[in-house]
Amino acid sequence: MKSGRKDLLGLRDVPREEIEAILTTAAQMREIGRRRVKKVPPLRGRLVVSLFFENSTRTRTSFELAAKRLSADTLSFNASTSSTAKGETLMDTARTIFAMQPDAVVVRHAYAGAPHLLARSFPWSVVNAGDGINEHPSQALLDMLTMQDRLGSIAGRTVAIVGDVQHSRVARSNIFGLSTMGARVLVAGPGTMCRRDLAALPVTVRHTIDDVVAEADVIMMLRIQHERLGRAVLPSQREYAAFYGLDIDRLRRARPDVVVMHPGPINRGVEIGADVADGPQSVILDQVTNGIAVRMALLYRLLGHGDSGGDWHAAD
Ligand code: CP
Repeated sequence: MKSGRKDLLGLRDVPREEIEAILTTAAQMREIGRRRVKKVPPLRGRLVVSLFFENSTRTRTSFELAAKRLSADTLSFNASTSSTAKGETLMDTARTIFAMQPDAVVVRHAYAGAPHLLARSFPWSVVNAGDGINEHPSQALLDMLTMQDRLGSIAGRTVAIVGDVQHSRVARSNIFGLSTMGARVLVAGPGTMCRRDLAALPVTVRHTIDDVVAEADVIMMLRIQHERLGRAVLPSQREYAAFYGLDIDRLRRARPDVVVMHPGPINRGVEIGADVADGPQSVILDQVTNGIAVRMALLYRLLGHGDSGGDWHAAD
């Protein structure tokens, strides 16, 4: 069965069966990363372009690695070293990329809706790699794969998302994806980063980390999105760490088998203590490894392969 989808722009409207199919394909594709030759042929001759107008370590490298493992050609565009710095617009940059005849473009942009504009304007597949405060769907999918590994099933579990929920595209995609998958989502943070209007989403809003830690099967800590804050919303980072950071003392109040996650990049000593980030309950590096498999599954499905596939099992 083909995925039937040209683009992946967000998880808000992605049905449960489709999320499950992506996670199943990704779980199968992890095996390729354990081979001596980490490459299979299904996207041979296809071109995947990374179009990043904002900084990235994990998302850009893992999409590129995912494309390479499926034998696609890759081309990486970095706004800071491109003609964007000379005043070229998003659409003119996209038209230039279009002239290179890509099959898929992975886009990160500071403006919510930028990937949607490209998806409407061009025939190639667009994957949203993070648009402003809107969505970051591949991050939520890799988070869900990591939860599934640890918990077996996501349905019926309680996931606490703590910190700067208001400005986090990771939080929004997780809220949509997790609620579709049957999880209960709690959010907690200071009033400026976790406003009451979040209650319009399928979440329960709380205002202290201590209100959510004891109940959670998963605690997902978020970085303060300083680049999206137009004004000071915090008295100080030290106070933030004291009231909202996950340190080892707070973690002792959680379930012994709680799973600690963070999408990265982390700010040690602010939202998460170093001993928690590097501790036995942390799956932060598993999230990174799963990111490659999830992005392989997405490119594979979007570029014309469906649920059954199977043509990637043979080594190249
Ligand atoms: N989680 C995440 O999106 O990380 P990068 O900004 O490094 O891609």
